[in-house]
Amino acid sequence: MVLSIAGFHPRSLSVKIFGLGTTFVLLFFLYLYNSPTSFSSILSSGSSRFGFDRQPGTCPPRAYANGRWAGPYYRTTAATMTNKSQALEFSGFEGCASSREFDWHLASDNEGQWNRFPTAQSYQWTVGKQDGCEGLEELDKEKMVRDMVEQGGWLLLGDSITEGHFFSLSCTLYPHVIATPNYTPNSFFDRAWPQNLYLNPASPLLRPSSGSHKQLYLPTGFNISTTPLATFRRIDLLLTQSELVDLHQSLHPVNPANFSLFSEEAVWSISPSEYMPLFIDGGYGTMVVSTGGHWTVTLFGGYGKNMPPAFDGAKEGIDGVIDFFGHAMRSWANEVQSALYEASRLDGGQRKRQVLVRAYLPGHDDCHNPKVTKPWAEIHPTEWASYNWGSIWRYNEVFDDILTTSSTKYPDLHYLAIDRPGRLRPDAHTTGDCLHIMAGAGVLEGWSHYIWHYVSKELGRSRRSRVLGA
Ligand SMILES: *[C@@H]1O[C@H](CO)[C@@H](O)[C@H](O)[C@H]1NC(C)=O
Ligand SMILES: *[C@@H]1O[C@H](CO)[C@@H](O)[C@H](O)[C@H]1NC(C)=O
Ligand SMILES: *[C@@H]1O[C@H](CO)[C@@H](O)[C@H](O)[C@H]1NC(C)=O
Repeated sequence: MVLSIAGFHPRSLSVKIFGLGTTFVLLFFLYLYNSPTSFSSILSSGSSRFGFDRQPGTCPPRAYANGRWAGPYYRTTAATMTNKSQALEFSGFEGCASSREFDWHLASDNEGQWNRFPTAQSYQWTVGKQDGCEGLEELDKEKMVRDMVEQGGWLLLGDSITEGHFFSLSCTLYPHVIATPNYTPNSFFDRAWPQNLYLNPASPLLRPSSGSHKQLYLPTGFNISTTPLATFRRIDLLLTQSELVDLHQSLHPVNPANFSLFSEEAVWSISPSEYMPLFIDGGYGTMVVSTGGHWTVTLFGGYGKNMPPAFDGAKEGIDGVIDFFGHAMRSWANEVQSALYEASRLDGGQRKRQVLVRAYLPGHDDCHNPKVTKPWAEIHPTEWASYNWGSIWRYNEVFDDILTTSSTKYPDLHYLAIDRPGRLRPDAHTTGDCLHIMAGAGVLEGWSHYIWHYVSKELGRSRRSRVLGA
């Protein structure tokens, strides 16, 4: 099967990425009105995600994660990579708007690993009714752009994994977006710089000739040069180090003279008191956060080898870090939900805003072993893992627990357990390490696809039913 994706035809803008679509849309309507069987199968796979005021969706996060990688389905007839510029067409991208570490993100920066092209870029995540997932529309970048313009853009907060997600989004939405800053003129950059995607003034979507059903009309208040469709902020911990030190001190009072929670390890973080106003006033509709990878005993050196012997009630090592993570994320969730309540009170609930916590993704040790050439069918349990990778599921469980068991307490915060597709892709890492994921392999693109679905369909539907008083 050869999918032709790279060609851009202004007259047929709806570029089909993968062929899952229309059947599901039909099934979705059948399901909505008269399918008790599929209703109960959805409930069994996903009902715990929803509080009383949320309708079961047509493809809840866990149902989406039930799928499998199918393929390889090559997009071109080229069997090998001979020029790094081929990375784009192998990945199904027309280009990428971001200029930050371009070849590194696409994993085309090391000729020694070009043999991974085009296979690693040719698998597709396949999910359907049997997984409890119905009504998942194909990724359609023009519709995504429209939804971001109309419903508000995405504020992506997280570490370098999320930065990879931002880069991938800049490819998925190309050529309808432009990216800032431009990293091309000089290679200096600071990881703290915000990165933005704006609607491209030259996008065919803005031309009257694009046809009335395609043409994009900008809502009042939307300024093409100042309203981002997406922004990335590098935030490793979701709270600042000093906020965490204060919280820790209140939980485990220790004499600061002989205790330091953090080591000297580099970390980037800003406070919710800074990014919540940005989210609320910046025209965004969705904030996507993810954290976990930096919550280690090396950064949290107070839990590492210098942990004080008598540490008021705290567990040792990684168990202590995860315990503290739980306290910190509960405190974070309270603060974020309060800010959303306040924003809603001020604007009379005019703009719907939601916060999605994307499950963190651990790496795969030994990912560049030449034997690692394809996706797994099931997650392989490992006895040993680098960093805190073996415990990432516990950090994710913390969020699941906070946002699921207290879903009535945090109605605008949602946990997306969509890490499984990435966990099945040891073959999809960047060339230099086994944590970061290459753009174009379907993992990061799948996050964008699912988040778009979740915001515009799963939440959109319960929003409508709330309006109707259902
Ligand atoms: C690689 O492809 C680009 C774009 O098509 C082209 O400009 C360049 O000359 C090619 N490089 C080589 C070594 O063939
Ligand atoms: C959009 O923002 C720019 C920069 O602030 C400003 O110069 C321009 O007048 C704004 N456009 C509109 C239509 O408000
Ligand atoms: C902690 O520091 C204080 C004051 O600097 C000192 O008196 C105390 O003995 C230290 N405690 C430990 C356990 O090192």
